[in-house]
Amino acid sequence: MSAGATETRACAQPAISDADFERFRDFFYRKTGIYFEDSKRYFVDKRLLERMRATGHDSFRSYFTFMRFQASGEELQRLIDLMTVNETYFFREDYQFRCLVGPVLDEVLERKRPGDPVRIWSIPCSTGEEPYSIAIWLLEHWPPIERVDVEILASDIDTQALARAREGVYGRRSVQRLPKALLTKYFEPLPDGRWRIVRELREAVDFRRVNLSDPADTRPYRRIDVIFCRNLLIYFDDASRRQAAEVFYDALNPGGFVFLGHSESMSRISSLFRVRRFEEAVAYQKPV
Ligand SMILES: C[S@@+](CC[C@H](N)C(=O)[O-])C[C@H]1O[C@@H](n2cnc3c(N)ncnc32)[C@H](O)[C@@H]1O
Repeated sequence: MSAGATETRACAQPAISDADFERFRDFFYRKTGIYFEDSKRYFVDKRLLERMRATGHDSFRSYFTFMRFQASGEELQRLIDLMTVNETYFFREDYQFRCLVGPVLDEVLERKRPGDPVRIWSIPCSTGEEPYSIAIWLLEHWPPIERVDVEILASDIDTQALARAREGVYGRRSVQRLPKALLTKYFEPLPDGRWRIVRELREAVDFRRVNLSDPADTRPYRRIDVIFCRNLLIYFDDASRRQAAEVFYDALNPGGFVFLGHSESMSRISSLFRVRRFEEAVAYQKPV
């Protein structure tokens, strides 16, 4: 054996082979609907190796077995929390909120009886900026809020993101698109320079862990008027997108609306919805 080969073996780190990556990719896809393209290989490997180190497994095979069969499911959740991309900020794509408080909620209210609540579901909500933005937007720009009850439901698969959402503490990057007046009205400054959203708003949003690809999780969500599902379908393949469209359809009241992220579209994946082109934004409507 040459000296070079001995050296290589001495420095060898646990590695993820192509076959390991594919096994993991299929498993993760079945669990979450998220499909990792080959281009995500570095991102995935890095996180797998990190968890293998943290849990004391020196081969992918032993880690994978441990993670899959762990009764509590804790390790799988840790991996999900690590593998998801939580990028979000207040007032992201705010033209959709303008559309919400304009023509969309006008139409929703036309079909309501007095006393009926309006139900809005933000999935995925990540660290909470989206549902809190909806709440602020309604308080600022939707006068019927004085007489109509609004329920804001917010869900994500990532439990760490949800914990941060409930805590409601945000750094400068998250709040930089908020007008200063709204920042001082709805947030308390913290000594470390961050901002905490006021208690009334923290209590107004119901945060729960929901996997959009798991029917057992989504089944309780019914009689929804508006769904915000922005910047998630980009991580799904067409089959998971179609399944998501069916979840939205079942969850919505007739005439209810879905808003997607600016680079996402329902047209190619589902004919269940009518495309509504409002002046401010495009929304997808469940037929009445
Ligand atoms: C980029 S963030 C989008 C947040 C927000 N909607 C926005 O547009 O700013 C994507 C979120 O999708 C969540 N996610 C990924 N797969 C999911 C699934 N199967 N069910 C629910 N949430 C999921 C991730 O945890 C992450 O927080």
